[in-house]
Amino acid sequence: MIRLAILASGSGSNAENIVKYFSHSDAVEVAAIISNKADAYVLERAKYLRVPSYVMSRADMVGTDKLLNLLRELKTDWVILAGFLVLLPESIVNEYDGKILNIHPSLLPKFGGKGMYGDKVHEAVVAAHEKESGITIHTIDTNYDQGTTVFQAKIRVEPLDNAEKVAQKVHALEYKFYPKVIEDMILGRDFERVVAVEPIGKD
Ligand code: GAR
Repeated sequence: MIRLAILASGSGSNAENIVKYFSHSDAVEVAAIISNKADAYVLERAKYLRVPSYVMSRADMVGTDKLLNLLRELKTDWVILAGFLVLLPESIVNEYDGKILNIHPSLLPKFGGKGMYGDKVHEAVVAAHEKESGITIHTIDTNYDQGTTVFQAKIRVEPLDNAEKVAQKVHALEYKFYPKVIEDMILGRDFERVVAVEPIGKD
């Protein structure tokens, strides 16, 4: 079995969706959920999903080898970031070169970078009167913000959509595509790199 470790800092709805997706897989399994926040709801989800979970402070994650050692102990093959807000140290990025996937809730390079996460992204998209938004799934490399985009999917932002509505649409894309793209990447399958879920630019 190919073993995934999911790293998450918050609610963990993507983490749960990924665990459920692979629960019947005979090729891939989620070995653990690791969080830097002791009160993150993702840890509750880990409990009811019966996935081993671990908490480690941001300082330990970035300033020591504890996270790298834990990933090794867990025999982790791929690292999946799902709403994870800590910049991984180079030692981990090097060891898992090309095998760390992240999801970002916008069409990178737009609305990315420091401080751009979760709802802040959707608020910025609405404030900028964007006509489209979406998700970007990318690998992490040692240039941190410049990993390689492996997949994007788009939704239309309607003139009256607020940040909450955009978040809802983007989350739907995340649930639909992230587990599938993870699976395709791991199994080395070909897949479509850009998908427009709704017609864009028809008005
Ligand atoms: C997701 O929308 C994910 O794309 C985003 O955080 C949310 C986590 O939701 N990640 C980032 O903004 C990373 N820069 P979840 O905890 O319910 O899965």
